[in-house]
Amino acid sequence: MLVTESIEEIRNTVKLWKREKLKVGFVPTMGALHDGHLALIKQAKKKSDRVVVSIFVNPEQFGPNEDFDHYPRQLEEDLKICRKVRAAAVFTPEVPDMYPGEKFFSISINELNQHMCGASRPGFFEGIVLVVNKLFNIIDPDIAVFGQKDIQQFLIIKQMAREFNLRVKLEMGKIIRANDGLALSSRNAYLSNDERLLAPSLYRSLSYIEKQISNGIDKPELLIAHQKNELEAKGFKIDYLNVFSLNNIKPVEKLEKGGNYILAGAVYLGKTRLIDNILLEL
Ligand code: PAJ
Repeated sequence: MLVTESIEEIRNTVKLWKREKLKVGFVPTMGALHDGHLALIKQAKKKSDRVVVSIFVNPEQFGPNEDFDHYPRQLEEDLKICRKVRAAAVFTPEVPDMYPGEKFFSISINELNQHMCGASRPGFFEGIVLVVNKLFNIIDPDIAVFGQKDIQQFLIIKQMAREFNLRVKLEMGKIIRANDGLALSSRNAYLSNDERLLAPSLYRSLSYIEKQISNGIDKPELLIAHQKNELEAKGFKIDYLNVFSLNNIKPVEKLEKGGNYILAGAVYLGKTRLIDNILLEL
């Protein structure tokens, strides 16, 4: 497995693979790899001949009061995991190589970032599309796999690929969960033992709402308000908990038969932000 910090080296490696007509899959990550990341790498492997994993904690997607400095970094363990699932290369660039200081251009997002995480984290998705765009240009993959866990990220990148005619094909991987339902996340490492026991309540609330909707509730406002209260009583701080349209990520008050929706929540447990979602096909 090639491990390189060098943009030139990863480019040349991919170029050689392409010359051999090999199909290149790509899984971008910020490291602290868990079974969710692993599932994406396996999915990419099924659809390609060589998989590149990138590990880069992207400063551009962290707000000034967010956890960039404390984000878990464990490169050696991550490399072991990548070797085990037989990734062909791991790209681990350094910040000055990715961002050498020029900022004459920026990508702005007009839509799809007004609600959900985009509403409470200004600049977050701009930072993501910036780095993903750069990574796509560096790696030039045939396919790239992103997780449903960050559904808004997936939808924004998918739209970016469509609007800017990117060559890469995007795939979504399903959410991998712990046995008690908690969606795996690198940030779960921040949770204390007590918080870890409480954390699956978010998924339980989402699942409860999903069940009521599948039983015929089409105006979920009260149902959602009730679940918010329950979570708050347990000590969660709610950022959002709502149903959004899968097409434009706007909140939806009345659900229609045949509609596609995202039932999604973001909460804080202590200082840790947890997100989760369930897709609804009515
Ligand atoms: P990171 O949080 O490391 O996640 C990398 C990929 O793993 C994302 O596509 C994310 O949706 C997926 N993922 C995370 N938890 C998952 C889970 N429990 N099940 C399935 N997939 C899961 O997302 C990022 O990094 C960054 O924003 C990045 C795209 C790398 C740009 O910096």
